[in-house]
Amino acid sequence: MTYSRIAGTGSYLPEKVVTNSDLEKVMDTSDEWIQERTGIKRRHIAADDQATSDLALAAANEALDMAGLAAEDIDLIIIATTTPDKVFPGTACIVQRRLGIRGCGAFDIQAACSGFVYGLDLADRHIRTGGGKNVLVIGAETLSRLTNWEDRTTAVLFGDGAGAVVLQETDEPGIISTHIHADGQYEDLLQVPQGVSQGYDITRAGEAFIQMNGNAVFRRAVATLDSIARETLDKNNIDKHDLDWFVPHQANMRIITAAAKKLDMPMERVIVTVDEHANTSAASIPLAFDVAVRDGRIKRGELLLFEAFGAGFTWGSTLLRF
Ligand code: COA
Repeated sequence: MTYSRIAGTGSYLPEKVVTNSDLEKVMDTSDEWIQERTGIKRRHIAADDQATSDLALAAANEALDMAGLAAEDIDLIIIATTTPDKVFPGTACIVQRRLGIRGCGAFDIQAACSGFVYGLDLADRHIRTGGGKNVLVIGAETLSRLTNWEDRTTAVLFGDGAGAVVLQETDEPGIISTHIHADGQYEDLLQVPQGVSQGYDITRAGEAFIQMNGNAVFRRAVATLDSIARETLDKNNIDKHDLDWFVPHQANMRIITAAAKKLDMPMERVIVTVDEHANTSAASIPLAFDVAVRDGRIKRGELLLFEAFGAGFTWGSTLLRF
């Protein structure tokens, strides 16, 4: 049987750090409010001359290094992003050019904060059906470009960054199962209302940025993460206590804690970066994962659960042995 496994991980965070105290100076908020409601302390923000592809490229190079591969070994590039460099070409094609390679497939996917687990689902199926041996899956975002810095209800929540993995063909799993879902009826609760085909209307400028009903999103996120965890474990006949690590999407510390509690996971077994990175959407899981691999917490052979939830709503999970 052919399976896929994660051969390398990488990540990149822009140099500029914006703390909650920095935000206090430009909007009516406080470090105490932000930490209490979200767990966030600081976030990284891309420089004016940095685009999503810059962040993605740096993360991809680290993942290739760890996998011991050259860029030419890559058969497919998938980038999950809600903040592409341009309308087209896709950011994956830009990264391909900047990796110095030609010919392999390269495309972007848009599944908001669930984009990375959607990407893993596609990449795993691509490898298992003989489509290629090495797939680069990247989550990369410059959400600061979609942030209304005059809206304190959203501006404090998001950050920029990128994470990447190389998924590689192998004869034992690796990726055990992937699960992706969506329910489009929740469009109004979390969105950027303006867009290409609807047209941009400068008299509705605030609508070119993230808008959210935080309370409603919070409730749906907690319920949905619980159901996707149960679906994933049941499908594989795995007891939640067998999990070594839980790597959730990093949106809010209270959502993470609630999801961990339902899984009966002690917080020492949950990878948390939301305090340092804020919500980096599709980049948050691969970023958190790379941090924990590189600091030695997550080790080869351990059983991991990735879980994501985002606009759409979209949600999904990956169960894997690292
Ligand atoms: N600083 C200070 N006060 C703020 C604030 C800020 N940055 N943002 C909102 N407030 C105020 C509100 O105006 C409100 O004041 P009021 O009671 O006078 O009207 C009060 O704080 C409570 O707001 P509320 O929205 O009820 O707070 P909350 O406990 O629900 O926390 C979120 C708000 C956004 C942190 C929380 O709902 C959340 O995290 N939701 C999920 C968001 C998310 O994860 N989205 C991405 C999913 S991928």
